[in-house]
Amino acid sequence: MTDSILYEGKSKYICAGKDEYSLVIHYKDTATAFNGEKKEELSGKGRLNAAISNLIYKFLEKNGIETHLINVIDNTSILVKKAEIVQVEVIVRNTAAGSFSKKYGVDEGTALSNPTIEFSLKSDELGDPMINASHITAVGIASCSELDEMARQSLIINELLSGLFIKAGISLIDFKLEFGRYDGRLILCDEISPDSCRLWDTGTEEKLDKDRFRRDLGNVLEGYREVLRRLESVC
Ligand code: TMP
Ligand code: ASP
Repeated sequence: MTDSILYEGKSKYICAGKDEYSLVIHYKDTATAFNGEKKEELSGKGRLNAAISNLIYKFLEKNGIETHLINVIDNTSILVKKAEIVQVEVIVRNTAAGSFSKKYGVDEGTALSNPTIEFSLKSDELGDPMINASHITAVGIASCSELDEMARQSLIINELLSGLFIKAGISLIDFKLEFGRYDGRLILCDEISPDSCRLWDTGTEEKLDKDRFRRDLGNVLEGYREVLRRLESVC
């Protein structure tokens, strides 16, 4: 069944839900990086990301974090609460990597003394630039209390997920979250998957995430499959 698409993003598309308070999200097999400049179809990626994100969201719900997930429809589709997405991405880092290493000259793999939090404007045209709290409130993207609440939840999510992944022999290096306004509350939306996290094998530091695609390391989906296999053994 192909319902009419309300919105198509780079890795997911969205259709109407069962009522005005819900939506259906479909995961696609498309992998993109560098704001869509690099793009490839990786057959099975949608199913893997959906499975991984669903496991994580159910784990977070059990641990007191409200997410958009209502129920799983099939291998690549979920029914979610229809939230108004806050137009910033929240990035949490435990270990220096990626743009942090590049920008601040800190070697990849250097442990950070405290988790860092940063915000990026959700804008493909502008390349998701980093944006600070005073900019966000100044242009009315979110209020001070919403920013505090997103930061508070993000740090709790970091604690919960770092603990979960470590049981699976995986270090949670960094990750990106998106929140939405729903019935007067801020809830966790979007996905948490190897597309949106850096996940390294704790022993070997082998990358199991989308850096395999970004950096042409090969065997992209083998990394994703390994993440799912290990998460299933601890969830
Ligand atoms: P960065 O080091 O490139 O800033 O990425 C930090 C984290 O955010 C990393 O886990 C990947 C994730 N991320 C996304 O989910 N979407 C994006 O568009 C970007 C740039 C990063
Ligand atoms: N998600 C972004 C893109 O599709 C960038 C990234 O994940 O590296 O271009």
